[in-house]
Amino acid sequence: MLKILEYSIYYLREVKMKCNDRKSLLNRRPVLYTNPVQQMKYYLTELSDIIRNRRSIKPEHFNSRPIDKETLSALLENAKWAPTHGLTQPWRFTVFIGEGLAVLSDFQCETYKELAGKDKYNQKIYDKLKARPYLASAVIAIGMKRQASGKIPEIEEVQAVACAVQNMFLTATAMGIAAYWTTGGLTYKDEMNTFLGLEEADKCLGLFYLGNYDGEMPTSKRKEENYFVKWVTG
Ligand SMILES: Cc1cc2nc3c(=O)[nH]c(=O)nc-3n(C[C@H](O)[C@H](O)[C@H](O)COP(=O)(O)O)c2cc1C
Repeated sequence: MLKILEYSIYYLREVKMKCNDRKSLLNRRPVLYTNPVQQMKYYLTELSDIIRNRRSIKPEHFNSRPIDKETLSALLENAKWAPTHGLTQPWRFTVFIGEGLAVLSDFQCETYKELAGKDKYNQKIYDKLKARPYLASAVIAIGMKRQASGKIPEIEEVQAVACAVQNMFLTATAMGIAAYWTTGGLTYKDEMNTFLGLEEADKCLGLFYLGNYDGEMPTSKRKEENYFVKWVTG
């Protein structure tokens, strides 16, 4: 019932937005772009809010409220609309939910134990690798499938997958879902590729933890434009 109400409000807002003329769209005072000459197609304020309010929330802060499969599919659906050179669509996602989280947990801690050997073994790392998947509602392993011909440079395939992850991240933010992308643990180990059914040329790019979250979104900061942009004007 709540969901129907939520969707109805969303639908009405969308219809209202489509009916609004350009002037009223501009009245919303977009955060990033206030040039009245520029045609506005979507609510830029909302988009900017989602981008700027996206935060990494570690699974230790998730609550136990589950995320349904339909919602996860909606995230994955948005992921696939990322740009991809040559339309190779190199992303491969393995989604661990329910008992699948135990499969990931067992793999992580037991493989760590084997690889670390007696000398390097650390019980705290083992415990963390074991516990983490259970804290999440879902964990998506991020894979990059190398194009058979190898025509598209590998870096571009990695970039495309990163764009797909950001699509999921922003979608999660819009849905009020907490997410965390980690490249720790066994991400770059051959054993991870085997576990995920990836081949030697493919790459695991990390784990994407998803869960619900009750706390306030943490704040963050970024450097000013002059730190990362060089304008060439002539
Ligand atoms: C590819 C990638 C890998 C990451 N791996 C880790 C990680 O292993 N451990 C970690 O604490 N954070 C990891 N992060 C999250 C960053 O620490 C986080 O994005 C950064 O602190 C900025 O915070 P924000 O995402 O909330 O803006 C990773 C982020 C990216 C993009």
